[in-house]
Amino acid sequence: MPSNNWHPDLPPKMLTFEDLLPRVRACLQANDTGVFIKPSPTQYPHQWNWDSAAIALGLSHYDLPRAWHEVRGLLSAQWADGMVPHIIYHHGESAYFPPPSFWQTSGLAHGGPIESSGWTQEPLITPVVRALVEKGNPPADLPIIFQQLLRWQRWLHTARDADGSGLTCLFHPWETSDNSPRWMHVFDRITPVNLPPYKRRDMQHVDPAERPRAEDYERYIYLIDLARRNKWDNAWMMKHMPFCVQDVFFCSITHRADEDLRWLAARLNQPLEEIDGWISRTRRVFSERFWDEGRGLFLDWDVRLNAWLPVNTMAVFTPLYAGLATQQQAERLIREHWLNPQEYAPGPDSEWLLPTAAKNERDYSPRRYWCGPIWVIVNWLMHQGLLRYGYHDLAESLRMQTLALIERHGFREYYDPRDGSPLGAKDFAWSAALGLDFASQRR
Ligand code: DGY
Repeated sequence: MPSNNWHPDLPPKMLTFEDLLPRVRACLQANDTGVFIKPSPTQYPHQWNWDSAAIALGLSHYDLPRAWHEVRGLLSAQWADGMVPHIIYHHGESAYFPPPSFWQTSGLAHGGPIESSGWTQEPLITPVVRALVEKGNPPADLPIIFQQLLRWQRWLHTARDADGSGLTCLFHPWETSDNSPRWMHVFDRITPVNLPPYKRRDMQHVDPAERPRAEDYERYIYLIDLARRNKWDNAWMMKHMPFCVQDVFFCSITHRADEDLRWLAARLNQPLEEIDGWISRTRRVFSERFWDEGRGLFLDWDVRLNAWLPVNTMAVFTPLYAGLATQQQAERLIREHWLNPQEYAPGPDSEWLLPTAAKNERDYSPRRYWCGPIWVIVNWLMHQGLLRYGYHDLAESLRMQTLALIERHGFREYYDPRDGSPLGAKDFAWSAALGLDFASQRR
């Protein structure tokens, strides 16, 4: 197996933990509202679910109590039915669209105590809670936190189970890696009608060429409107939402969260049977549902069409993070795709890792939100997956490239895989937090 992928201009000395710490501290402090840390000061001024998980991990390297505070802030918004929402408006309205009132989630019997969106996001907080516990001195309320995580993961495996497989289905791209080309194939079949009046605000601070296209954003709004008109009723959505997918990326993170929830349960002397049931069911059905032996890829599933979404994005590698691929599947993923310069590997048309969509995909676009740019969170998940399967050289190359991007361009939301140039929001909290985590992991 070639161990290429080393960027030719990597500086000889990489950013160290000590170099990065003051910069990370300053970025997170500037975004800190006291209750939660904003993903970025202007573009995303509320609490985002999986951003908080990544932020808590970064904080844990220098301020463990503040990391636990971030976890509590997120879980305090849990809905009565167990869901933990994707955006939480602790401080009401801001210049961000959609404002809390747009979601129409207040007063729902199954809703939450704090204004929020009506969707969820990847339960990345559970692996992070485990990492925090492993640092020592677990807080006295860990049993309460555990119960909150348990209720959420139960909800993911039941309220969002379309076919008895226990694989969570998603009703909106914002529940996962957002504006990904794989969702555009579903959008081809959705025609937004009777859209409510709205005004986008996401292009005030970021170049429109780096944000979702108008036709995709219309579909985002259309799906929110459908759900809110039907009172965010999961049973209704399960039957009728035109966007209904099982996402390899989301299901992989959920499986990793199940494994880590089990670890917490064992530590707290809690029953294991229910969690073991989720774990063994996912292991049984995952490859059968998602693995395309012909192409050597894990592909997302369109529940409405009962068919794969034939799109090659970074999601294909995330089963490595969860230990859900066999060693043979992992080898095909790496040999045929990761190391293929037409898809992901550096080549004539890109220098940096990891493009978030294969470069030969129809909707690949190296500057547009989730359609190709590099994300620190994705590199971080990939790094863990590569290590889990023994690809130490590739993992180290990815870690060093990510630190080099941060060194050159600071904590940006995403980066252009062609030349590494910075894109999206500035002072991006999880790029800082996960950069610190990368720097803490010397080979
Ligand atoms: C946005 O506003 O684009 C966010 O991705 C929603 O989560």
